[in-house]
Amino acid sequence: MKELRVLKGITRLENASALDQSVDGLREVVHRVIQPQSVRDVLHGVPVGHPVHPLAVLVPAGAWVSSAVLDVVPGTAQASRVLVAFGVISAIPAALAGYTDWSELHRQQARVGLVHAAGNVAAIALYTASYIQRRRGREFSGKVLGYLGLACISGSGYLGGHLAYRQASGANHAEQVPHRFPAGWQRLAELDTIPEHQLTTMEVAGQPLLVLRRGQSVDVLSNVCTHLAGPLASGELIDGETDNPCVACPWHGSVFELRTGEVVHGPATAPQHRFESRVVEGVVEVRLPNAVESEYPVAATV
Ligand code: FES
Repeated sequence: MKELRVLKGITRLENASALDQSVDGLREVVHRVIQPQSVRDVLHGVPVGHPVHPLAVLVPAGAWVSSAVLDVVPGTAQASRVLVAFGVISAIPAALAGYTDWSELHRQQARVGLVHAAGNVAAIALYTASYIQRRRGREFSGKVLGYLGLACISGSGYLGGHLAYRQASGANHAEQVPHRFPAGWQRLAELDTIPEHQLTTMEVAGQPLLVLRRGQSVDVLSNVCTHLAGPLASGELIDGETDNPCVACPWHGSVFELRTGEVVHGPATAPQHRFESRVVEGVVEVRLPNAVESEYPVAATV
């Protein structure tokens, strides 16, 4: 089946470097305005374990679609007006979450995201105008503005889908690890060959691992950041002398606990895969507890 022609335009949009100045300028504003980090973490969706923006947009989108339906039903003008207003108000937290996520994307994703955001801003403006017209008793123009807003939000929603699924902007970029890592204990290295108190990259079964040795204790995480696949071992070791060392990703600064893989700060929302480790006759072995036994031919895929 052939792709829709509009996809070619979106692919060109991914490579539209003319948007970069606007992307950089807006990104700086978003970083400055949406603070502190605890607020950013909530808006990213760290507490719920995945981005909240797609969830939050359901509310205004649902209100506006419902309003569009009521606009063809006689005697429902007031209910439709309330839905239009509710959609505008509920679009604010959805937009804040979206801008926060957008500010931590790769450049190609950010270009598409910029146009997606512009479409959403246009939709909010049209629905605000629609509400004002309805309040003035100008139902017909209020409805026309509402349908124009719906067209805008539908177009920007299509771009949002492209951003989320085609460009994988909100996905867990390490989901594949348990499907690629063999089940059971695997040899990592001789303990004495692993440098102490520094982030080290090693590989087992073709999978890059982040290793931190502290004496006899060895913490091991997947080296692929769940946010956008950044190389964690090239990041910064935080609190390396404490019982709870963390690593900050070099790409967008997500912070993970090395002991557990849990997210301390976003933009990542999914934890890192954490490997168990043990020392057997001077050799460190690792095991991924949720490695999937024989679901796929592991050796052939790595
Ligand atoms: S790739 Fe974005 S924080 Fe790691």
